[in-house]
Amino acid sequence: MRKKIIAGNWKMNLDYSESKSLIQNIAKIESDFNANAEIVIFPSMPYLSVFHELTKDIDWINIGSQNCYFEKSGAFTGETSPVQLKSLGIKYCLVGHSERRDYFSEDNVVLAKKIKALLEEGITPIFCCGEQLQVREANVYKEFIMKQVEESLFDLSVQDIARVVIAYEPVWAIGTGKTATAQQAQEIHQLIRNRIAKDFGDKTANEMSILYGGSMKAENARELLAQKDIDGGLIGGASLNADTFAQISISYSE
Ligand code: PGA
Repeated sequence: MRKKIIAGNWKMNLDYSESKSLIQNIAKIESDFNANAEIVIFPSMPYLSVFHELTKDIDWINIGSQNCYFEKSGAFTGETSPVQLKSLGIKYCLVGHSERRDYFSEDNVVLAKKIKALLEEGITPIFCCGEQLQVREANVYKEFIMKQVEESLFDLSVQDIARVVIAYEPVWAIGTGKTATAQQAQEIHQLIRNRIAKDFGDKTANEMSILYGGSMKAENARELLAQKDIDGGLIGGASLNADTFAQISISYSE
């Protein structure tokens, strides 16, 4: 059974007290989340430890890291390793968000290393992929997304790729208010699943969660999340408000 995940990517927003009150409000969401449907919150790195402690008795909330480096330790000023994340009890880490690709020049090869390093520590990578507007308009988006997926994930063993979560996030829909239609999103989710099935088998492909991200909000979440191959959302802007985030989460856990 595929796990349903509603993830909140807070990016570099909110100071400590704002973040703390948001996490406390999210913890009050009354929903049917359980071992097969959970919320993962990605706050800024300095808050990981405190927030993990705050939520550790709530089994349907997890705290994840927005980034990591692929080395275990050493002279890499400013970086955080999967070993260090594991030592805090962190179970999820975003990899290859389009903002990391754009502003910090992360390419598919570096991302493949991060994914391996996280899996070695038992942390679930949420691997983000998605095309820019010009790629979609040139009608080469399917090839583009498949290349991202293949170059970062296809060196993994069947056992390892099965532990990865994928997030399809069309770059033109991130933070822009534009959302992919449910049909556009479903098309790509199915494509990714079929591509994984081809190399890793139907069972693996059917058990992997593929999330949609890109201006998901209360108004469009229900239709997107109802698609056959959409197993949750990676939500930026709308995750910064506890009520909106609760509306999306509750509609999904019902
Ligand atoms: P958005 O961000 O919901 O604000 O579009 C999504 C993301 O960047 O993960």
